[in-house]
Amino acid sequence: MASVLVFGATGIAGIYIINALVAAKSSFARLGIFTSQTTVDNKAELIQRLKGEGVHVHVGDVGSDEDVLAAYKEYDTVVNAAGRNAILSQIGLLRLAEQSPQIKRFLPSEYGTDIEYSPASANEKPHQLKLMVRAYIKEHVKRVQCTYVVTGPYAEMALTRMPPAVEAAGSFDVHGKNAVLLGSGNESVSYTTMSDLGRFVVATLLHPEAVSDRAIKVNSFTATAHEVLAEFEKRTGAKWSVSYTSLEELKKFEKEAWESEKPFATVYTLRRIWTEGGTLYKERENALVDCEDGETLATLVERVVQAQTDERAGGHL
Ligand SMILES: NC(=O)c1ccc[n+]([C@@H]2O[C@H](COP(=O)([O-])OP(=O)(O)OC[C@H]3O[C@@H](n4cnc5c(N)ncnc54)[C@H](OP(=O)(O)O)[C@@H]3O)[C@@H](O)[C@H]2O)c1
Repeated sequence: MASVLVFGATGIAGIYIINALVAAKSSFARLGIFTSQTTVDNKAELIQRLKGEGVHVHVGDVGSDEDVLAAYKEYDTVVNAAGRNAILSQIGLLRLAEQSPQIKRFLPSEYGTDIEYSPASANEKPHQLKLMVRAYIKEHVKRVQCTYVVTGPYAEMALTRMPPAVEAAGSFDVHGKNAVLLGSGNESVSYTTMSDLGRFVVATLLHPEAVSDRAIKVNSFTATAHEVLAEFEKRTGAKWSVSYTSLEELKKFEKEAWESEKPFATVYTLRRIWTEGGTLYKERENALVDCEDGETLATLVERVVQAQTDERAGGHL
């Protein structure tokens, strides 16, 4: 049984990964997280909960060889869920993993759009840091086995209401009963729900032989924007008003956002890639890790409707 150390465990994606690991803890010899003192102080309740569930908490500086090597001693597998601003911190972690004979496996922080989908992927701005990590692995990581878990967009984040400044990048507003659809509305996109993200990572860890030293492309479901809209209309029992952002308009907004260094430029680029078909494969690879039973569009829409309703009533997403 693997013993697994997670970096970035309290982040947006990481929390789903550590929760899924905890749910499957009988399949693992040991679970731990490596985090900073700041996170321990700021997210005390979550850290206490994880400790109560048997997760070992290693507090240190991700940039300190000493702290990382001390934590590595008790594990054979590293799962990294670092945020976009910390992607390059993985290069040091991979170097140390390669030097630590007990570390056998490393899942780099990916969990999103396929950064090597086609030759054009090499030029996409949001992919550059993850591509640098893959390049480092190709050149320097010879012993530790790496697997890139490629999930496509998170359905909960992609199929919901967007703030007004980025509504044109696609939005589903349950209260206003209006949607902004991308492209013609008929382009298929493959999504992964965030609870499936955790399950897919666990499944990947449990099938090391099937997916070592490669990317695995998994997803929950594939749908067009029109199919998503139809599900929202069915669930809310109302006809929605609809507008479209064509692919050409999306490209124009994307260009303007990068030129004016807007923080949401990445959102436009990723959504343009998805609309162009960059999440579609001849065959998805869920079967490789025995994970064919992903969540459906219907359960996702039910959750988004509930979340937006709760949010309006003063709750949280
Ligand atoms: N498919 C999608 O739609 C989608 C959407 C969002 C993200 N993603 C991908 O999921 C992965 C995780 O992203 P996220 O949004 O979950 O990340 P996030 O919440 O922004 O950050 C994740 C964790 O990274 C660590 N971290 C942040 N800044 C750091 C720094 N300066 N130095 C060291 N560690 C730092 C923190 O770890 P602690 O927990 O220890 O504090 C943080 O909780 C990324 O690869 C991202 O591209 C995919």
